[in-house]
Amino acid sequence: MSSDAPLVLGIETSCDETGVGIVRGTELLADALATSVEEHARFGGVVPEVASRAHLEAMVPTICRALGSAGAAPRDVDAVAVTAGPGLAGALLVGVAAAKAYALALGKPLYGVNHLSAHVAVDLLEHGPLDEPCVALLVSGGHSSLLFVPRIGGEELTELGATVDDAAGEAYDKVARLLGMPFPGGPPIDRAARDGDPRAIEFPRAMREDGYAFSFAGLKTAVARWVEGRQRAGEPVPVADVAASFQEAVVDVLTHKAVKAAREHGVEHLVIGGGVAANSRLRALAEQRCARAGLRLRVPRPRLCTDNGAMVAALGAQLVANGATPSPLEIPADSALPITEVLL
Ligand code: KG4
Ligand code: ZN
Repeated sequence: MSSDAPLVLGIETSCDETGVGIVRGTELLADALATSVEEHARFGGVVPEVASRAHLEAMVPTICRALGSAGAAPRDVDAVAVTAGPGLAGALLVGVAAAKAYALALGKPLYGVNHLSAHVAVDLLEHGPLDEPCVALLVSGGHSSLLFVPRIGGEELTELGATVDDAAGEAYDKVARLLGMPFPGGPPIDRAARDGDPRAIEFPRAMREDGYAFSFAGLKTAVARWVEGRQRAGEPVPVADVAASFQEAVVDVLTHKAVKAAREHGVEHLVIGGGVAANSRLRALAEQRCARAGLRLRVPRPRLCTDNGAMVAALGAQLVANGATPSPLEIPADSALPITEVLL
């Protein structure tokens, strides 16, 4: 895309990160982030009211920081994109209200977009345009889905399968908690697993050969029972081995199904997005299995996998480029926005 492509400001507030990104076409110009993660840590999960308040305080400073690092003035912004859902209702409201205010004040179009699609679109900033269909594996704290995507950043996609219970990230967070690790649990399990043996404990791989749906609740329970068994016997819990074996069960199923979906749909590319895509073992195993299957893997750098504003700007920029109709200023924040609704 040429350097005169529109400048898009993206705002993300669906959970505990206040993200503001600035993108021109597929070029990332700024990615400013403020997080309230430490305020939630002692509760073992995100407290919605605390997150909303933190977004409110961080919003304007984070927008100013993003504009500053892009070397842009507010009047340079050509369009405003914002996560309209899914996510925490109060948290989403802060971003949506801010985006409407900026769009109205600047006289620029508003694009209320789907957070989950933005997790896939962000890869364009890393690897450039992809003008052919792909399969995307979306793995975050609240969602785990396999998608058929005719065009990244387009308005159409089909959900091939999703988790029937816990999301992959949720399983990481719950297992981390029972191993005494901090929230969010993905990063500490990822680190601990590096010193463990992934074959030490044979944890279940539910629904591995059944279609494109996932199930992680049984795995989490199996880990809990195993750890309790050790504790009851008065034996130490081999934390690194538990972390590595749990992680192997998760990423084995995720990559197995993602590669199968890509092959069965005859696409050349597999894209992985969402917070769990930052996982080092998921990235390594996906790389290996894609190479073996003759697939090309696209996973953005870890910083772009977890929630950020650049992903929202990236999706907004594609919608603008494709001539999508902007959102009316009356759009709601939709905490349960279906994955297939890319633009409100
Ligand atoms: O996409 P995201 O930042 O927020 C949501 O939209 O949910 O994903 C957050 C999830 C959390 O469950 C967190 O534990 C997980 O992503 N996560 C990871 C890693 N980094 C973040 N999971 C596994 N390994 C990681 N390195
Ligand atoms: Zn997310």
